[in-house]
Formats: sequence, structure tokens, C-alpha cells
Amino acid sequence: MRKIPVKTASAEYPVYVGFGLFPLLTRRIALKSGRRVFVLTSPEIWALWGKRFLAAFPRGAQPTTLFLPAGEPYKRLAQVERLAGEMAAAGADRSGLLIAFGGGIVGDLGGFLAAIYMRGIEYVQAPTTLLAQVDSSVGGKTGVNLAAGKNLIGSFHHPLAVFADIDVLQTLPERELRAGLYESVKAGIIRDAALFRFMERNAEAILRREPAALERVIAASIRMKAEVVGIDERESGLRMILNFGHTLGHAIEAATGYRRLLHGEAIAWGMLAALRIARKRGTVSAGEAERMERTIAAYGPTPEFRASVDRLMAAAGRDKKNRAGSRRFVLPRGIGDAVVVEDVTDAEMEDTTRAILATARL
Ligand SMILES: NC(=O)c1ccc[n+]([C@@H]2O[C@H](COP(=O)([O-])OP(=O)(O)OC[C@H]3O[C@@H](n4cnc5c(N)ncnc54)[C@H](O)[C@@H]3O)[C@@H](O)[C@H]2O)c1
Ligand SMILES: [Zn+2]
Repeated sequence: MRKIPVKTASAEYPVYVGFGLFPLLTRRIALKSGRRVFVLTSPEIWALWGKRFLAAFPRGAQPTTLFLPAGEPYKRLAQVERLAGEMAAAGADRSGLLIAFGGGIVGDLGGFLAAIYMRGIEYVQAPTTLLAQVDSSVGGKTGVNLAAGKNLIGSFHHPLAVFADIDVLQTLPERELRAGLYESVKAGIIRDAALFRFMERNAEAILRREPAALERVIAASIRMKAEVVGIDERESGLRMILNFGHTLGHAIEAATGYRRLLHGEAIAWGMLAALRIARKRGTVSAGEAERMERTIAAYGPTPEFRASVDRLMAAAGRDKKNRAGSRRFVLPRGIGDAVVVEDVTDAEMEDTTRAILATARL
């Protein structure tokens, strides 16, 4: 088991990465007598892991289970209100504790529920997807979607601790695993050359879910993210590099109605787009760019999609991470090194969008 510290301006907590962590979770959350504990999860995850999860709690201190149906359409305020109502009905007060046991959707919505229930209660992240373990459970961003766009309502609320149990990944659908691994490839490209090399050389073992290989990738990805949010919690500078691949990636997700591609898959296309811009600008060498492209491909196949150039350009313009009048991109300078630029022109954007569409079209 590895323990990775997260230390930001507003919070300090550990991320545990390892195997069979449920007993550790129950030991660490200090089950004060009278404290109500709630587990937010999805029915699918609970069917697979609920029994083992509950077995880690003492008989007299069983948590109350709350359910969120799986899928992005449920990451909405209406669900937050329903769940808060259920907590109130079950007698939750300010000493209540919420455990978000699921993927990024459960984690984001659960964290937000904890942030606003009685103006804030404590919560714990128990991420069950690779993406949630390496990315969304760390950093304190919580929230839900609006009809107008993803994650438009939210708050920063850090958990007491994160328990990334690698055992639970054994039931994760293959496609979800690959999608999450793209975020780890991203972590390697932007800031951790050793992680990149490991993923470059060990794709097979990682995709076979060999425990030691997964542990190495997950721990390194978390360490990278913890470091970055430790330096820049509120995304005013360094944290922006985490958006490598996300400018076009978000646009692809929006232009395809969030249905065709998983988030990580859209990000894979987006990373290829950013690499093309970096190559054309000469900020990265052709040799290193090729290694990055090959490694992204090794975690594929990335599903194809259809979208018009205009639609993607418009969607990229609307990305909330862009400042007015400029198009922000994260461009790799080399393996393990990336930079945020604000001056990507419409012509560069259009060129890379066309190139990606030519490869991605069904
Ligand atoms: N807060 C952040 O910083 C941050 C960062 C990145 C992404 N996100 C958010 O994360 C969300 C995506 O998260 P995700 O990719 O984890 O998707 P998800 O939460 O939808 O989970 C994917 C699917 O896998 C199933 N599942 C989860 N764990 C499983 C397991 N162990 N075995 C079998 N099935 C399992 C789920 O029921 C679901 O159907 C998006 O809403 C995105 O906005 C947030
Ligand atoms: Zn992402």
C-alpha cells in the first residue's frame, strides 16, 4: 500500500493506493459513536462490491446506502436535491460523513452533495474507476452538469482521504479501463517522463491489469496530480497543464452529444490534436512526438466519431477554460514537459481539427 500526501492551500489529506483497502477505510474514518455514515454508490457497483464493502464495517456501525443511477444524465442538481432529502430523512446532521464509492460521476456529485449539505459535511472518496482513481478523486473539484454544459455548478471541497483500491478495477469494463489510462498517459506526457516510459514499454501488462503494473501507473498519476494541485489548487497557473488534450477533447465530447465517446477517449483525440500543433510549431521534436502518438495508440483503439469542423471550432470556442479572445492550449515541449499557450490561432485550430477528423471519421 502506498500513501500519497495531498497538501493544498486549503487542505491536507492522504491518498491510499493499494489492494483490499476497505478495512483500512473503515479504520481511518474514525467511526465516532452516533456519527451517521452514508455511502453513495451506483446500483451496478453495489451489486459487484457492496457485500465486501459492508463487511468492512462493524456490525453496529453499518452505513446507510444511497444510490445514484449510472450515467452522465444523472449528474444533475435534481439528484443532489433528492439525495440530500434522503439524508435529512435518515437523520443526517453536520457530523454526518459521506463516502463516495464509485466512478467520477459518483465522486463529483457526492463531493458536491457533501460540500453543500448543511453548508458542508466531511466526505471520503473511494474511487472505483481508473479515471476516478488517477484523476477526478484528487484535487477537490466537485460538481454537477447543467443543460448548458458539463460541470457548470460546483465547488471546491476536499475529501478527508481517498482510498484507491486497485482490486475493484478487476470488474471495470475494458473500455472504461482504456479511457482512464489515457489520463495517465497524459500525466506522463505533461510532467512525469518515468511514468511515460513505463507506459510506453508496458502497455500489455497494464492492459492485462497486472496488479503491480496498475499500482505503478495509478500511484505515479496520483502523485503527479497531487503535486500540481498542491502548487496551484484553484487553477490559476500550473494546474492548467492538466488540460492537455482537453481543448479539442471537450469540443469533441460536446459535438458528439457526450454519447459516442468516453471522456478519456475524447481526450486521446485531443492529445493527438495538441501534438500536431506542437509539432508544426516546432516546440516538440518529431521523434518525441512520434513516441507520444504511439503510446496513445497503444491504449486504443480510440473509437471513431463524426462531427463537422464548424461544430468543433464553435464548441472549442465555448470551452469555459478559454479566456475571452484567445484560444488556450497545452502543448508538450518534450516527454514529461508541457506548457500552456494562449495564442493558438483559428488557422492552427482548424488545421488540427481537420487532420483529426480525417483520421477519426467513421
Ligand atoms: N473532479 C474532477 O477533477 C474530474 C476530473 C475528471 C473527470 N471528472 C468527471 O468524472 C466523470 C467520469 O467519471 P468515470 O470515467 O469514472 O465514469 P463513471 O463514473 O460514469 O463510471 C463509468 C462506468 O463504470 C461503472 N463502474 C464504475 N466502477 C466500476 C467497477 N469497479 N466495476 C464495474 N463497473 C464500474 C459505472 O457504473 C459507470 O457505468 C465525468 O462526469 C467527469 O466530468 C471529474
Ligand atoms: Zn480529463
